[in-house]
Amino acid sequence: MKSPIQIFGCICLLAVVAACGNKASENVEAEHVDPSLKNTFSYDFFVGAAINNGVIEEKDSLATALLKKEFNSITPENIMKWMHIHPSPDKFNFEIADKYVDLGKKNNLHTVGHTLVWHSQLADWVTEVNDSSAMTVILKNHINSIVNRYKGKIDSWDVVNEALNEDGTLRESIFLEVLGDSYLELAFETAAKADPDVQLVYNDYNLTNPEKRAGVIRLVKKLKEKNIKIDAVGMQGHWNLEGPTLEEIETSIIAYHDAGVKVSISELDITVLPNPWDLEGAEVSQNFENSPSMNPYPESLPDSVQNILAKRYQDIFKLFRKHRDKIDRVTFWGINDGSSWLNNWPIDDRTNYPLLFDRNYRPKKAYESVMELNK
Ligand code: G3I
Repeated sequence: MKSPIQIFGCICLLAVVAACGNKASENVEAEHVDPSLKNTFSYDFFVGAAINNGVIEEKDSLATALLKKEFNSITPENIMKWMHIHPSPDKFNFEIADKYVDLGKKNNLHTVGHTLVWHSQLADWVTEVNDSSAMTVILKNHINSIVNRYKGKIDSWDVVNEALNEDGTLRESIFLEVLGDSYLELAFETAAKADPDVQLVYNDYNLTNPEKRAGVIRLVKKLKEKNIKIDAVGMQGHWNLEGPTLEEIETSIIAYHDAGVKVSISELDITVLPNPWDLEGAEVSQNFENSPSMNPYPESLPDSVQNILAKRYQDIFKLFRKHRDKIDRVTFWGINDGSSWLNNWPIDDRTNYPLLFDRNYRPKKAYESVMELNK
């Protein structure tokens, strides 16, 4: 039997929990008490990870264990890209994508679809289309087939990926060439009709750069003026130890929010390696020669750099928490250092350390520094 004081205490606790409106737990089962990233930020935003085939097919048991313990959102790193999911006009490969979505539902994870329209990792047959009516049919069929199949199961779609140049103009692509700039409207409109409840995102890198930021804001406003649904901007977050600055990140989060959309930090990682030609962003077509000076930590990351990385991650997460009303999700681009794309970009076969878990799936100092925000 509980005393009146205990009962009063329970009621107060329930009231506090309800008042806090636990964002990230809307799609997540009862909170566990275990310390984890998802619990640390459960009142702020989802904490996600991009997952590869090994994790989707549950062949990487350590990664699966980390995923279930630490994260409450997933993004498919590669398998939903056009070349994989729709390799020829009449062929869709849904097998692995179905497994991805099942994994999300089975574990009650906020599930992201990545990505419907992107100039890169496109199937060759699409690049041969030169007629606008044909391209319209193809784009609509692609989006309808995929969004419909996962209606109610995918929570958020990256509808268009990386459509802008650094100066904020539209990037050359087969879609722009054949359809003109209205292809973005067509893509968002089609996705919204196919699943009116799913979150629709424009996703890109270098979104802290003022000119590109202005381009995204123009795009968001244009869609909104035409009553076309767009819910969020995905700031990818392929960053380094120095840049972008916290001020640049903050200004951008506020600017996107002011334009009337949520911000998803959609592909976070922080490279610790030297950058050839001071390259910024995530342009996958850029590649450079490897050399010892470009791969300075082949065995392990020195403590001095671990500390800088830890401080950088903590500062960034403090900022994210400060803007928790604007940010709905923070997704790391991978689970652990060993599986990061940054070991092979922009130079093949280097040893990078961009995430919170090391090659042995152990938490790094950067993880501890982020978890300190629990206190
Ligand atoms: O699967 C093949 C494998 O069979 C082959 O032996 C190997 C040899 O290179 O290549 C493997 O495919 C690679 C694939 O990743 C899986 O590892 C491709 O070459 C490689 O190009 C591909 O890179 C992906 C890249 O997008 C291009 O699609 C990265 O994993 C993925 O992390 C990266 O993700 C992008 C986002 O989608 C959009 N934003 C930028 C981000 C980072 O570039």
